[in-house]
Amino acid sequence: MADDPKPAAPRWRGDFPIRWEQDHYITRRELTKFLTLGSAVLVVATGAVALRGRRFRPSGGPARRIAAVADVPPGGSALFRYPTDGDPCILLRLADGRFVAYSQVCTHLSCAVIHEPGSSQLHCPCHQGFFDVGDGRPTGGPPQRRLPHILLETRGEEIFAVGVEA
Ligand code: FES
Repeated sequence: MADDPKPAAPRWRGDFPIRWEQDHYITRRELTKFLTLGSAVLVVATGAVALRGRRFRPSGGPARRIAAVADVPPGGSALFRYPTDGDPCILLRLADGRFVAYSQVCTHLSCAVIHEPGSSQLHCPCHQGFFDVGDGRPTGGPPQRRLPHILLETRGEEIFAVGVEA
């Protein structure tokens, strides 16, 4: 039995000759150039995203009235929500009369932190976590990160939340 004759090459191959061996050949220099440029683009893009995130960090919503000065005696606290109704926060009036506020969401596993009147700590009952009322830093238990700080503004006899500092 005779071999079948090799089928004729399609006509387009004659019109558009492609040298496959050369087409797939990439020199080490070209590969190095590609990888270097690709890495540079990634570094620049990552830097731009980081810079943008730092400059335009969300700072909460518009100012929201959260309490009257007279509502919270020294050593006391009040609950409020900021920047949305889904974000529980706690306002504290320290013994020296200063107001501070934090997110009420524990930085360990998101239970709500509570405050006993007169205490210098916020307490998370889920795993016995503790935070300093003065600056929100963790002082005991599993939490490792401080509570997000709510920025406050006192306007006359009213206290407003004006931003969030993560
Ligand atoms: S959730 Fe607060 S200590 Fe674990």
